[in-house]
Amino acid sequence: MAGRNFLFVPGPTNVPDRVLRAMHRAMEDHRSSDFPSLATPLFEELKKIFKTRSGQAFIFPASGTGAWEASLSNTLSPGDKVIAARFGMFSHLWIDMAQRMGLDVEILDVEWGEGAPVERYQEALAADRAHRIKAVLFTHNETATGVTSDVAGMRRALNDTRHPALLMVDGVSSIASIDFRMDEWGVDLAVTGSQKGLMLPAGLGIVCASQKALALYDQAKLPRVFFDFGDMRKANASGYFPYTPSLPMLYGLRESIGMLLEEGLDNVFARHHRLAEGTRRAVKAWGLELCARAPKWHSDTVTAIMVPAGFNGAEVIDVAYRRYDLALGAGLARMAGKLFRIGHLGDLNELMLLGGIAGVEMAMRDVGIKVELGKGVAAAQEYWRSTASPLDQRDFPPRAPDAQPAAATPKKAAAGASR
Ligand SMILES: Cc1ncc(COP(=O)(O)O)c(C=O)c1O
Repeated sequence: MAGRNFLFVPGPTNVPDRVLRAMHRAMEDHRSSDFPSLATPLFEELKKIFKTRSGQAFIFPASGTGAWEASLSNTLSPGDKVIAARFGMFSHLWIDMAQRMGLDVEILDVEWGEGAPVERYQEALAADRAHRIKAVLFTHNETATGVTSDVAGMRRALNDTRHPALLMVDGVSSIASIDFRMDEWGVDLAVTGSQKGLMLPAGLGIVCASQKALALYDQAKLPRVFFDFGDMRKANASGYFPYTPSLPMLYGLRESIGMLLEEGLDNVFARHHRLAEGTRRAVKAWGLELCARAPKWHSDTVTAIMVPAGFNGAEVIDVAYRRYDLALGAGLARMAGKLFRIGHLGDLNELMLLGGIAGVEMAMRDVGIKVELGKGVAAAQEYWRSTASPLDQRDFPPRAPDAQPAAATPKKAAAGASR
């Protein structure tokens, strides 16, 4: 098919040309004396993305799932109790991993479409006077349902109950796209992957650990080898890895962090919010419902859209892909067929997203869903026009008040220009 594939799954996301070029390298010796000049600054720069000064960043040649495993295995022991809310596919999978690793998980089941229940976490922590709960597992952005939860509120709940449990946060689809403040929110282990807000291919599992989390390493008895913080710390201290790292990914990471910091993290978050809000306006114009049940849970990185009764979301996705080369996110597990998802994170702007929204409209019409073509596009266009930043005056100097377009009245325009 000619033209580009329109990639609107919530990860992997578009890899910017700058990052692709940075990754296009001949391989090098990862034990050379030059290598630390690549690796060492990355650990410090990553801390800016996580907003931590005191934490330590770990880069594993893995994915978000590996980063989950690293966070659990380096801080906990078999049989330790942890508490976790389950409200979508990814919070479910983290719980499943914890159980398979031999942890005792208290599960807070929540309707899919709602966010993490901070009050229920708080009740359970308050009731746990013996402090048997060693860690709180908290999914910041549940990618399966397009729901963002309140990490700061979770920290307050831990503080209010004076509970010493670690706060572990899955930020795979939030970090570098949605406001995240590791130090301010007292997060002990923050987990992400490379293929979402960091605008890279999948291939890195990244964890930032607080000093409190690092101090538990010696007493944590879960087995760990590949994800061992101790091995990593020893090698990273001199700018190396305990095994062969992925060089292109490290070069790409250097470039993508550079791009994020150039744009400014607050601007990155604001851009994601605007793009998400325009998408939500489109959904409203179609007369469809979001999976997220309340505005406080709306995700700025992924919008999950319920298809009307009698329709199958998987069909919309299939038609969009085969007819229009548009990739949308599927409904996962119990949401299979009930929804489709538009990922709007990473290297993205309004016009790219309009292409995705237009394709969604066409695919929905093709499978028989009664939406009016152009309605969602127009709603998003209107929102983005009305919230666009002022034109840069340096690029577009204001015209003199009486100046007219040159072609219409050449004399007047010339006179105006001579002032
Ligand atoms: C919120 C969340 N957590 C964890 C994961 C697992 O990450 P990975 O697929 O990189 O292992 C994903 C993947 O999409 C995710 O969205």
